[in-house]
Amino acid sequence: MSRTQARGWRIQVLHGPNLNLLGSREPEVYGGETLASIETRLGALAAELGVEVSFLQSNHEGVLVDAVQAARGRHQGLLVNLGAYTHTSVAVRDALAAAGLPFVEVHLSNVHGREPFRHRSLVAPLAAGVVLGFGAESYLLGLRGLAGVLAARAGA
Ligand code: DQA
Repeated sequence: MSRTQARGWRIQVLHGPNLNLLGSREPEVYGGETLASIETRLGALAAELGVEVSFLQSNHEGVLVDAVQAARGRHQGLLVNLGAYTHTSVAVRDALAAAGLPFVEVHLSNVHGREPFRHRSLVAPLAAGVVLGFGAESYLLGLRGLAGVLAARAGA
């Protein structure tokens, strides 16, 4: 068993607006997998890594701010796909800064190959890492990366 498996870290996974529509939403951009399927796969990977994952999707900026605030003290890290709020939300960015928890930013699509307004992320400068462009796999890669960051911070 690796040290990562021994820790039992709790990780909050946050999905922003319109990600509840995955599966039917622009499948040529985001793929055909539903959010429920992605969460099932994340749960299986979390079990393999020995971490706990909790999931929240919201279309509302304030709900995401509340979730980031609540994560402090309950979770050791966050895996976030903030959807469009990635590019616009100073409030979510400030909540992540205040929480001070390590987080990984993920995107299904390669935002840098898309419209210019998607090229800027307000949260990327604070992130431990960013994974994008691999469809649903971005989430799984991000979870592995975050587990590694938590292990490194714990001195593993
Ligand atoms: C997204 C990219 C964002 O630009 C977009 O607004 C989304 C999804 C992605 O996962 O590729 O809602 O975060």
